[in-house]
Amino acid sequence: MKRTHTCGELTLKNVQEKVVLSGWVAKNRRMGGIIFLDLRDREGITQIVVQPDHPQYEIINTIRNEFVITVAGIVVERKNKNLELKTGEIEIIVTTITILSKALTTPLIISDVTDALEDVRMKYRYLDLRRPSMQQKIIFRNHLINIIRQFLQAQKFIDIETPILNKSTPEGARDFLVPSRQNLHNFYALPQSPQLFKQLLMLAGFDKYFQIAKCFRDEDLRSDRQPEFTQLDLEMSFVDREDIFKLIEALVKVIMTDVMKVPITTPFIQMNYDEAIARYGTDKPDTRYDLELFEAATIFAQTKFGIFANALKNGLSLKGIFIPQKVTKKQIEELTRIAQQNKAQGLIWIKQEQNVYEGPIAKFISDDEKEELLKISTKQDGTFFFITDKTTVVCQALGAVRIELAKMFELIPANEYHFLWIVNWPLYEWSDQTNRYEAAHHPFTAPTREYLDNFDQNLATARANAYDLVLNGYEIAGGSIRIHQNDLQQKMFESLQLTPKEIDSKFGWFLNAFNYGVPPHGGIALGLDRLAMILTNSDSIRDVIAFPKNASGSDPMTESPSSVDVKQLDELEIKLK
Ligand code: AMO
Repeated sequence: MKRTHTCGELTLKNVQEKVVLSGWVAKNRRMGGIIFLDLRDREGITQIVVQPDHPQYEIINTIRNEFVITVAGIVVERKNKNLELKTGEIEIIVTTITILSKALTTPLIISDVTDALEDVRMKYRYLDLRRPSMQQKIIFRNHLINIIRQFLQAQKFIDIETPILNKSTPEGARDFLVPSRQNLHNFYALPQSPQLFKQLLMLAGFDKYFQIAKCFRDEDLRSDRQPEFTQLDLEMSFVDREDIFKLIEALVKVIMTDVMKVPITTPFIQMNYDEAIARYGTDKPDTRYDLELFEAATIFAQTKFGIFANALKNGLSLKGIFIPQKVTKKQIEELTRIAQQNKAQGLIWIKQEQNVYEGPIAKFISDDEKEELLKISTKQDGTFFFITDKTTVVCQALGAVRIELAKMFELIPANEYHFLWIVNWPLYEWSDQTNRYEAAHHPFTAPTREYLDNFDQNLATARANAYDLVLNGYEIAGGSIRIHQNDLQQKMFESLQLTPKEIDSKFGWFLNAFNYGVPPHGGIALGLDRLAMILTNSDSIRDVIAFPKNASGSDPMTESPSSVDVKQLDELEIKLK
């Protein structure tokens, strides 16, 4: 089919040229009998003009929005120019129009901004994707992946695919299971990541591997999580942590300069996990704004305020945050709700103005305490918030309050990108559900040097040679240096209270490989959807995935997941409960 130009191409330079364009009708207007059509394709919009005496007028007059048409015509200079549009200085005077396909009135308006409900957008995803702002995001993602591939290929990384039908890999989420017809009553698991395969590729001698890999995790969804998502997964042999950091920093630099046109500084700051939690209450701090948490236990060591006194007597933690702002009653209610959502019992506030203290506990504050608070506030007027509880609850809840305060008072600078490595993670984390320690990253992560010999005796304190890359408060990548010694890997499994039988049935195949010469290796995986979401300034990860799942893990367009035929289940010998 002949097309001479796209709809985003023609300018004054093309005036008087005969052209053929094809696309969708984005708008159709009639003014004094003249028909104006805006023709849209992924490159832009061009105005088409049809005079009342046109021989095809009757047919053209039936054209409505979202019809697909081909227009042949002549480019002319426009009288009323629209300088916001690339093609806004010209229009096409029609010679002929062919209607290629008609369209019903669309259930959502095809424009950059939409007020359509999320479910409508997802049910008619192909229409949602017609919106130019959505197209730009998907095209941005393509650009991002292209740059990544070029960069890694130039660094001699080898792109290798790994299986989708798998044995379960332990990344900590639930597996999606696929029943096997040929091996009745057995199941594949969809990969939560290519973790074990990429390690085996190091054993196989590939040295530098990467893959744009689909991963599947059956976990509760949030605005930055999908059950099916894409990682840039990579692994390298004969490296230590700093080699991986250098590579990723160089890659991120290329992405930021080439795709985003934003200069960034490398190397990125490295922050210990413990420090991140103490200062920001989270392992993925947004460092675009300060608003750090402070220790308040010493300030209130002699307090007469019962709740603080009791908590401190019982060894609980007490931390605070100060904002040099007046906070309204409604805002305090909202902040309290957020603290409680994050398991805190409550949020205690004190307003400080010209040395006068106000709030439910103001009357208990001694002069010494006031002096300490003035040091924290550097004598500025403002509001303190405090939470006392177990350390984990205090940090999590105050961390959430910190984020909300930043949003409330618009402290987050636009168009800034703060990359940060979080290092020295705990090797294990306590699980209230299973009532034991579990691998904090995954059980193939090496302990740090000081815990190599005794990590299994120190589950509460052992540190991992693991790292996360954080961008503007999101975890965009995570990785580690791996265990490459058979006995150490065995010891790691044992420390997780796996029985020899469990170790053998789950990981025997993997441990076996460790008998045949293993290079020291390590790697990282970068959440591509998450990175694309942040770089396109999207509110949801769904905006950068062509066909995502909704918050309950379904796809309203295909209506999946759905029930299947009894015949299919019979073949698999599966009976529904
Ligand atoms: P991890 O589990 O930290 O590491 O995952 C790596 C990165 O993947 C992204 N991510 C997600 N993105 C969208 N939806 C999800 N449900 C989701 N889960 C994770 C995050 C995260 O930082 N095998 C290890 C990597 C390694 O050790 O090399 C792994 O998968 O951005």
